[in-house]
Amino acid sequence: MSLFDSLIRATLPITPRPMVGFFARRYVAGARLEDAVATVQRLEKEGCCATIDVLGEAVSDREQASAAVRDYHQVLDAIVANHLPAHVSLKPTQMGLNIDAALCHRNIEAVIAYAHARGIFVRIDMEDSPTTDATLRIYRELIAHYPGATGVVLQARLRRTYADARALASIRANVRLCKGIYLEPRDIAYEEREIIRSAFVHALRLLLDGGSYVGIATHDEWLVCEALGMIHRLGLAKDAYEFQMLLGVDPKLRGILTGAGHRLRVYVPFGSHWYPYSVRRLRENPTIARVGLQAFFRGRIEK
Ligand code: FDA
Repeated sequence: MSLFDSLIRATLPITPRPMVGFFARRYVAGARLEDAVATVQRLEKEGCCATIDVLGEAVSDREQASAAVRDYHQVLDAIVANHLPAHVSLKPTQMGLNIDAALCHRNIEAVIAYAHARGIFVRIDMEDSPTTDATLRIYRELIAHYPGATGVVLQARLRRTYADARALASIRANVRLCKGIYLEPRDIAYEEREIIRSAFVHALRLLLDGGSYVGIATHDEWLVCEALGMIHRLGLAKDAYEFQMLLGVDPKLRGILTGAGHRLRVYVPFGSHWYPYSVRRLRENPTIARVGLQAFFRGRIEK
């Protein structure tokens, strides 16, 4: 890691919010739903589809969780009204998981039922390891009532993921596979980049072999190459999997994949609760601050 990257990481906790906001602009569509709609429309012209995320997490009162459900209903209405090639992603702690698992279940169900009635899929994001069991349990409860309407996320970083992938492959679950952004202790998670890559490949093979629809969520070209090899070997049709990338990360790779005819879904977060999401992205990749500075002097940000 360069001295610049270390400096950015070390100073993040004391960096003024407006400055974090400036550097993180490329990761967030904007504060308003209209910003997300405009971003998805722009991505559609590039040949991408999207998943829209209302920023928010770790809510501590029931009203905030209910407000998040209402926000998602509005997003779903906007997807229908604007014929957007999009579904939605939500976070269990935004739906009240830290308050009460039953409340969280009811809130996620309220989003899924509304989405399902409109033919729209709901992805349940995966947060840090204390939430993994509850998230998978809620997913299983909901999928029993709304087959095909929802999917979950596995994080290659976690040692448990191989077993979770095997269990989910056996029900041909719709799974987004990613490395995992939350730093976890070594007893439950891999720490080395190469081991995490290897764990990603093992889990991906299990899921694809088992017939799961996988959202291959990575910007790591080594993994993209491995995934393409597997897709080719299995002879998968183009609608049997998809690649997924975050808004603002490597638009060039995005274009390469869509140009080759692969489905590419971009994660489009928006809303006023942009701060924790942005800090995670900056901590993960401090070089983005350098990109941000360059963009500032060039006068534009490429999303
Ligand atoms: P890696 O971090 O090695 O990045 C590969 C390359 O991509 C880097 O060299 C760099 O060029 C570029 N890059 C990566 N991150 C960047 C950044 N922030 N800014 C600029 N460039 C960057 N995690 C989780 O725990 N739960 C979840 O539900 C999700 N959901 C999710 C959805 C989607 C669509 C994606 C793409 C990712 C997630 N993640 C996630 C995040 C994921 O776990 C992981 O932290 C990031 O995708 C980065 O890992 P990569 O596989 O891209 O590799």
